[in-house]
Amino acid sequence: VLDVGKLYGQAGIFTYDPGFTSTASCESKITYVDGDAGHLLYRGYPVEDLVARGDYLETCYLLLYGDLPTARQKADFDYRVTHHTMVHEQMVRFFQGFRRDSHPMAVMVGSVGALSAFYHDSTDIADPHQRMIASIRMIAKMPTIAAMAYKYTTGQPFVYPKNELDYAANFLRMCFSVPFEEYKVNPVLARAMDRILILHADNEQGASSSTVRLAGSSGANPFACIAAGVACLWGPAHGGANEAALKMLAEIGKPERIPAFIARAKDPDDPFRLLGFGHRVYKSYDPRARVMHGICREVLAEVGVADPLFEVAEELERAAMADEYFVEKKLFPNLDFYSGLTLRAMGFPPAMFTAVFSLARTAGWIAQWMEMISDPSQKIGRPRQLYTGATRRDYVPVAKRG
Ligand code: ACO
Repeated sequence: VLDVGKLYGQAGIFTYDPGFTSTASCESKITYVDGDAGHLLYRGYPVEDLVARGDYLETCYLLLYGDLPTARQKADFDYRVTHHTMVHEQMVRFFQGFRRDSHPMAVMVGSVGALSAFYHDSTDIADPHQRMIASIRMIAKMPTIAAMAYKYTTGQPFVYPKNELDYAANFLRMCFSVPFEEYKVNPVLARAMDRILILHADNEQGASSSTVRLAGSSGANPFACIAAGVACLWGPAHGGANEAALKMLAEIGKPERIPAFIARAKDPDDPFRLLGFGHRVYKSYDPRARVMHGICREVLAEVGVADPLFEVAEELERAAMADEYFVEKKLFPNLDFYSGLTLRAMGFPPAMFTAVFSLARTAGWIAQWMEMISDPSQKIGRPRQLYTGATRRDYVPVAKRG
């Protein structure tokens, strides 16, 4: 706690907490993380149970409305999402403005933000009905946008949604179906994708969710707020870690090289970190990483690939978990550690990994935004700062500056 008045004669007392390591920014009823015990609950339900027994759209409903849907509510929600999966045809022209070799996340940031221009009929945030339409639109259109970003950067024609397929299968088809070839969605991979989406759906006030809340606190429309979340997620310390972790595993290449990389990660003079390890809140095994490890093994078995990098990853985990540095600092594999390997086995290039994360996290972002905007005591987010710059100085005309 700092008395600012003492420093610069400004009135007021505030806490100084870089990175918000011990500052709660809001109250929330959505997601609970017990980082010491390694538990993640969405609206009270352990994520492992939802992954094992539920599906992604049901999880979206749960995050948004607070309870699991009845069969009728589920059918109605699925129907509503399904009937918003198309994006406006003018969006196609918008996509075409990007450079052919753009990173899919660059395309996602721009095109999600652009939804505000195409769907301004649902940007009236004062109207709860319009807020819900915007939320459903976001959840429905994200797979289409992510798949279009992928198709665009590979030079292939866009594949439109096929609404008799379920959410995850539809996404896989929009990504991997090519002209003149029959594409049948592999049900094992579709189920794996659905479980991956559930695992990524929310994680309380992570950097991107906090960004969505902060952007939304000014009254900005939901599409613009979600675009801010996508931008924040892109960084390698957050969602971009899945792409970076796979690059690191490829660089390690074989188990014999692991000790050298562990030594680098421990060296205080080397900025290198083990990507996919460590978390601000999880100080024991990230429950999502355990589930993702299992999904990764299943997907590799299904596609019949013996990925040598999977062996490197498992060996790296074993070596890190036996190392005092990682034990003492409580650095465990996080969700991103095995997700890249899994998505690659499903056919996604590394540049798409964070885009898949962003489509999954949309459910959480939108639920966090809804909770914030519906709270009557909601205020604009406006952190204070600890000013350490110059004290008041007299202006010197340019001709008189040495
Ligand atoms: N490898 C080596 N050392 C690490 C790692 C790592 N992956 N992560 C943290 N440390 C060390 C830091 O050097 C620091 O050491 P020090 O106390 O000697 O200075 C200590 O552990 C604490 O690290 P901080 O950076 O202060 O922890 P913070 O909570 O701010 O960071 C973060 C969390 C960003 C996730 C960090 O662990 C990291 O950079 N990990 C690698 C990137 C990654 O995997 N990100 C994905 C996050 S999960 C997600 O978005 C789904």
